[in-house]
Amino acid sequence: MKQVNYPFILLAVLCMLMPSSILAVLPGTWPAMDLPPPTSDIYTNLVNLTKVSQAPVNPLNSTCPTVNTYCRWTCDNCIRSNDIVSCPNKLDWALTLDAGPSEYTSTVLNFLDTQNIKVTFFVVGSRVYQYPEILQRILKSGHEIGVLTWSNSWLTTQTNEQVIAELKWTMDAVKAAVNITPKFMRPPFGDYDDRIRDISTQLGLRPVIWDLDTYDWKSDGDSTFNFSWIVNNFTQWIADPNLNNTGHISIEYDLYNQTAAQVSLVVPILKNASYNIKPVSVCMGINHPYVEDVNLDGTPLPIPTNTSNTTLNAPNSATNTTNQSNSNSSNSSSSNHTPIIIGVVGSIAILSLFVIIALLVCKKRKKRRFNSVAVFGVNVEDRFQKF
Ligand SMILES: *[C@@H]1O[C@H](CO)[C@@H](O)[C@H](O)[C@H]1NC(C)=O
Ligand SMILES: *[C@@H]1O[C@H](CO)[C@@H](O)[C@H](O)[C@H]1NC(C)=O
Ligand SMILES: *[C@@H]1O[C@H](CO)[C@@H](O)[C@H](O)[C@H]1NC(C)=O
Ligand SMILES: *[C@@H]1O[C@H](CO)[C@@H](O)[C@H](O)[C@H]1NC(C)=O
Ligand SMILES: *[C@@H]1O[C@H](CO)[C@@H](O)[C@H](O)[C@H]1NC(C)=O
Ligand SMILES: *[C@@H]1O[C@H](CO)[C@@H](O)[C@H](O)[C@H]1NC(C)=O
Ligand SMILES: *[C@@H]1O[C@H](CO)[C@@H](O)[C@H](O)[C@H]1NC(C)=O
Ligand SMILES: *[C@@H]1O[C@H](CO)[C@@H](O)[C@H](O)[C@H]1NC(C)=O
Ligand SMILES: *[C@@H]1O[C@H](CO)[C@@H](O)[C@H](O)[C@H]1NC(C)=O
Ligand SMILES: *[C@@H]1O[C@H](CO)[C@@H](O)[C@H](O)[C@H]1NC(C)=O
Ligand SMILES: *[C@@H]1O[C@H](CO)[C@@H](O)[C@H](O)[C@H]1NC(C)=O
Ligand SMILES: *[C@@H]1O[C@H](CO)[C@@H](O)[C@H](O)[C@H]1NC(C)=O
Repeated sequence: MKQVNYPFILLAVLCMLMPSSILAVLPGTWPAMDLPPPTSDIYTNLVNLTKVSQAPVNPLNSTCPTVNTYCRWTCDNCIRSNDIVSCPNKLDWALTLDAGPSEYTSTVLNFLDTQNIKVTFFVVGSRVYQYPEILQRILKSGHEIGVLTWSNSWLTTQTNEQVIAELKWTMDAVKAAVNITPKFMRPPFGDYDDRIRDISTQLGLRPVIWDLDTYDWKSDGDSTFNFSWIVNNFTQWIADPNLNNTGHISIEYDLYNQTAAQVSLVVPILKNASYNIKPVSVCMGINHPYVEDVNLDGTPLPIPTNTSNTTLNAPNSATNTTNQSNSNSSNSSSSNHTPIIIGVVGSIAILSLFVIIALLVCKKRKKRRFNSVAVFGVNVEDRFQKF
């Protein structure tokens, strides 16, 4: 009978743990995946709750009130003047991709690179923790990053403190991963009202809803969902004369394999219809997309333009303000990436160590085997079992 080989089982288990230690490189401790995160006084104190609407906390799946006092969007698409719903200019189209980053987001990014198209990602904080390197690629490619929530759950069903935690944990994860602070938030499933608006605004986040929905998030629990509906939707939208007076903001999910795969099918439809695909902030004419003084791709913003001086538009005109902002943001961004770099390098070092140990152990095993055959001339299998 063969004996159990404990060192090798240990080695195998350690090797199986390696991928997670390579991915989980955001420094610090973070809440659990896909669950509403813990509240904290530090977060709650960021918001003056006396200035937050008294809209009730809704039960799950609650019906709409007869009068939509608190402008709950899911009831009658109620919006307030600060909400962003569509791109103002005809032929501008903001493709928004929600609930990632996921393992399928890289494929979407590869495609968008080939088309030189920039879109907006509304990210789930717990998945930013899972895939910080994908968020880094999103930023470097010049796509836009907005906040969904930590757990992608219904916001009006949560207390003020919980809503603050959902948004703030996500903002912190984004800051830790790519050193920017978004200015946009999106309520999952469009579940927001004045209470959510007030909290978001105090946290520096402007709500971005949409005017065109594929409902592809329903594909997760609905086996009758046909993914070809998504392409059908886009084909109908671009041909609809009633949708020809403004630009648009559409919503799709990059969280699932089949929904992420639709991006490469709908982009040609929009391009052929002469739509210019751009991030939300770009179609809104907002050229300071994050709290930090950086462009969408994280590079320093050009110096503020003086409209009465056209030559000032050149981003590299050498003034001392450019100098200062350059060094400031590049310094802070590189220092903020350091923990991640250390994490990756450290993980690779640990992995290498395991490989070396494995090689040494194997070598030792071969040597024993050789000795046992050559010197003692006994059954190799016997020697082996005593290892
Ligand atoms: C919160 O807002 C109220 C009403 O505007 C104001 O009176 C109060 O001073 C604010 N509290 C803080 C801590 O800023
Ligand atoms: C809410 O509705 C969803 C389906 O839309 C259902 O799965 C869920 O059980 C419902 N929850 C409650 C509390 O009724
Ligand atoms: C989805 O719809 C397309 C076009 O309407 C159809 O050809 C296809 O068979 C459908 N797929 C499923 C799985 O129902
Ligand atoms: C999207 O397509 C599906 C299936 O064709 C259809 O039921 C739905 O109404 C469409 N949605 C929109 C917003 O056009
Ligand atoms: C939308 O308007 C443009 C002109 O601005 C026109 O060329 C195009 O055919 C219109 N599309 C539809 C679907 O009406
Ligand atoms: C994702 O879908 C593609 C086909 O569209 C398939 O080849 C691939 O295996 C799928 N990946 C996963 C992880 O399911
Ligand atoms: C591109 O648009 C034209 C009309 O502008 C249409 O005739 C043609 O079928 C479209 N091609 C594709 C591939 O959608
Ligand atoms: C822009 O430049 C003009 C002259 O070059 C100056 O008079 C004006 O004050 C400047 N405006 C701002 C906002 O800096
Ligand atoms: C405009 O800016 C340039 C340098 O960027 C400067 O040389 C020029 O004097 C400015 N013109 C005015 C009117 O301020
Ligand atoms: C701007 O930076 C350059 C080199 O990066 C330096 O030579 C120059 O002195 C700086 N100017 C100011 C005003 O800081
Ligand atoms: C450098 O910046 C300071 C303010 O930070 C300003 O007062 C000064 O005029 C600037 N010098 C030049 C050469 O632009
Ligand atoms: C420059 O960096 C310092 C800390 O390094 C920070 O306090 C300051 O806000 C930054 N300024 C800008 C304009 O980013």
